[in-house]
Amino acid sequence: MHPEDTAARYNRIAEWWQTQHQDSLYGIVQLERAIKFTHKKQFALDVGCGSSGRFIKVLNEHGFQVEGLDISEEMIDLAKQLHLGITFYREDICCRSPPKLYSLIAAWDGTFHLPLNLQEPVMKKLCDALKADGVLMFTCGGRHGR
Ligand SMILES: C[S@@+](CC[C@H](N)C(=O)[O-])C[C@H]1O[C@@H](n2cnc3c(N)ncnc32)[C@H](O)[C@@H]1O
Repeated sequence: MHPEDTAARYNRIAEWWQTQHQDSLYGIVQLERAIKFTHKKQFALDVGCGSSGRFIKVLNEHGFQVEGLDISEEMIDLAKQLHLGITFYREDICCRSPPKLYSLIAAWDGTFHLPLNLQEPVMKKLCDALKADGVLMFTCGGRHGR
């Protein structure tokens, strides 16, 4: 699916997503594991953070300076209300490079929405946005784009 179509769909379910997923533990064990591999806890970026920002909460508790990025305006707006003081970027990760270098980047069930031909270049872009010993965690899969 084209990223803008994905954004339009998430805009429609942003409130539902927040109430349904805010307390979900799905992916949290993997996030905690990625955190253990991260030597310096400086900046962290949650790509496709969604409206609950549940990864942002965990990263914050571990002492990272966390930022969230999402293509959906509605998801970002709701996440902002829950996470005051956090920097959010309303961006399509295909079109923009992350603005700084990060100790940890999480792309949990966000970039897997991308058409397959865009997933590798986006992963390379995320690797380029890591500090020398930084950690990237991501889920992948999906279908060929239209
Ligand atoms: C399945 S939700 C996952 C949300 C969150 N990571 C979680 O696990 O609760 C996918 C999120 O990725 C975002 N997303 C999809 N494609 C994106 C893109 N190209 N750039 C940035 N965000 C994207 C969607 O807007 C949505 O908020």
